[in-house]
Amino acid sequence: MEELIKDILSKKELRNLDTSIVEEFLKDFLDKNRKVKSNLEEKKFNKRSEEYKQTVKEVRRKLREIYGVFIDENYSKKEHLLKNLNRRNEKETVEKILKLHTSTNERLPYYKEVYQKIFKITGRKKIILDLACGLNPLSYKFLGYKPVKYIASDISSEDLKFIALFFKKMKISGKTIKIDLVREQEKLQGLKAGICFMFKTLDSLETQKKNTSRTLIDTINAEWIVISFPKTSLGGYKTIKKSKRQWFVNFLKHNNHKHQSFETLNEFFFVIEK
Ligand SMILES: C[S@@+](CC[C@H](N)C(=O)[O-])C[C@H]1O[C@@H](n2cnc3c(N)ncnc32)[C@H](O)[C@@H]1O
Repeated sequence: MEELIKDILSKKELRNLDTSIVEEFLKDFLDKNRKVKSNLEEKKFNKRSEEYKQTVKEVRRKLREIYGVFIDENYSKKEHLLKNLNRRNEKETVEKILKLHTSTNERLPYYKEVYQKIFKITGRKKIILDLACGLNPLSYKFLGYKPVKYIASDISSEDLKFIALFFKKMKISGKTIKIDLVREQEKLQGLKAGICFMFKTLDSLETQKKNTSRTLIDTINAEWIVISFPKTSLGGYKTIKKSKRQWFVNFLKHNNHKHQSFETLNEFFFVIEK
């Protein structure tokens, strides 16, 4: 099992994932493929077998969908960029890092506008909670003010170590916490915030477990939740129409959550009052 997990993680774009999340995805795969599971348990699982290769391939495919696909091939350069960040090159260096993740790269030309629109609705909040944050905390300068605390969370402990280093280097009052939003929602109960960002994440959480969004929105302890959806599918080839998000609008209505929405070229935003 350990070796299998190591093999799955050996791809560059998955390297920063925790073994615990790989274990979860592997368990799901084995539950659906009983024959493979029993061969693994009976130690009849040969590393060179088609079955082994297929298992590695399938679990990697799922992990790519939720994590690897967003990462630029130069993602590992961010540590070096951060190390050399100084006052003179700050703007340019931070932008270079934001470009290493698809979501922040696409949002880069709109950050100022996005945050202005959000805070015009909600007011400036003291505590920001950024869930499934990716590299979004590096957009801190675009917020337009200094919150008392910025709490960043994602499933990758390695990525969160990087965010913590960024907070330290920029003297930002920040904190990081690893939360798997599908399997560890209880960790959210102790986190109170004025505003919670959950950008471009609900689609992925829904593919991991249907109806996760509903329990998640109930559980998040924040006055406001800002949720965004991409306008194109992974890879950017297919447009996702606004009508495809109707389930979400219906859900908000059904639960009496008031909301306002706006959009940029790539993203739909919902600003929700809890
Ligand atoms: C499309 S990216 C969006 C990143 C960031 N929110 C943004 O828009 O800039 C999706 C993020 O969800 C995270 N993610 C995927 N599954 C997750 C889970 N079960 N729990 C927490 N985060 C998850 C990934 O690690 C990735 O950072």
